[in-house]
Amino acid sequence: MDQATNLRNIVKNSQVANRRRAKVITVTSGKGGVGKSNISVNLAIQLRKMGKSVIVFDADFGLANVEVIFGVIPKYNLFDVIYNNKTITEVLTNGPLGIEFLSGGSGVKELLRLDKTQIELLVTKLAELDRYADVIIIDTGAGISDAVLSFLSASHEVILVTTPEPTSVTDAYAVLKAIRNNKIDEIEGHIHVLVNRVRSDKEGREIFDKLNKVSQKFLNIELRTIGYLPEDRFLPRAVIEQKPISILYPKANIVKSFEELSTKIMEDYDEEEKTTRGLGNIFTNFLRHKDRR
Ligand SMILES: Nc1ncnc2c1ncn2[C@@H]1O[C@H](COP(=O)(O)OP(=O)(O)O)[C@@H](O)[C@H]1O
Ligand SMILES: [Mg+2]
Repeated sequence: MDQATNLRNIVKNSQVANRRRAKVITVTSGKGGVGKSNISVNLAIQLRKMGKSVIVFDADFGLANVEVIFGVIPKYNLFDVIYNNKTITEVLTNGPLGIEFLSGGSGVKELLRLDKTQIELLVTKLAELDRYADVIIIDTGAGISDAVLSFLSASHEVILVTTPEPTSVTDAYAVLKAIRNNKIDEIEGHIHVLVNRVRSDKEGREIFDKLNKVSQKFLNIELRTIGYLPEDRFLPRAVIEQKPISILYPKANIVKSFEELSTKIMEDYDEEEKTTRGLGNIFTNFLRHKDRR
């Protein structure tokens, strides 16, 4: 460990004692390519602007995108945590505005197929992060793997992203079904649907209503809406420039929506909930009980 890292750890450890637990927000979706990584990164930036300390965990193992959107090359990634015995704090990378992130490892094939033991090891280590930030944003891969379900069960709030495309809505429903089938009851009431790439608020509302209706009828899960994000032609441009749109085009339409999103997601700030959930309790919530369910 070099001296800078050493000092950083000492500072961090001294902060630990009186530190509250982090609020864990997981951004997920059924279908890929719906905007999760851009939402995670820009939400982090807006929360940072609200004065929160933020860590983004890129949990799309092996297909890390957060670093690409931040335009930062990480020195370490999850591979080092699982195979090289690095601690979580050692592998954090500094992003813009003092945001730290944990890279999911790009093109590392070992990370594409983590077994249950490895996920367990990972989440145990992740629990450490709980003490180092006000907010932890987990950007998951698409779909319903054990890893995704573990993160959902450890979250205080879930942002379920869909676009208006029927395939994307159907796959969002599949995530809800997996939440129901795996009895991740504790997260119900905290699932916020975010409809991305809408052409009007009306379109967003219709998509939400449709999903909420089938979810209530067939799964008995009541969803919450957390608004809509417009289709914004500046977003793909920002991705190409490898700078988050909130930094590169702060006046873009979608940036205003990211600001509103960050305020809304912090509204349900429930201190008591934070003691019963969070990364520290990730096992009790899913993996440990999984086989008994
Ligand atoms: N609101 C939007 N307006 C325009 N393009 C968007 C929007 N949201 C997402 N995109 C496009 O979709 C691509 C994939 O987004 P990304 O955040 O990487 O999705 P995911 O993480 O869900 O796979 C972006 O690079 C961008 O080109
Ligand atoms: Mg992504």
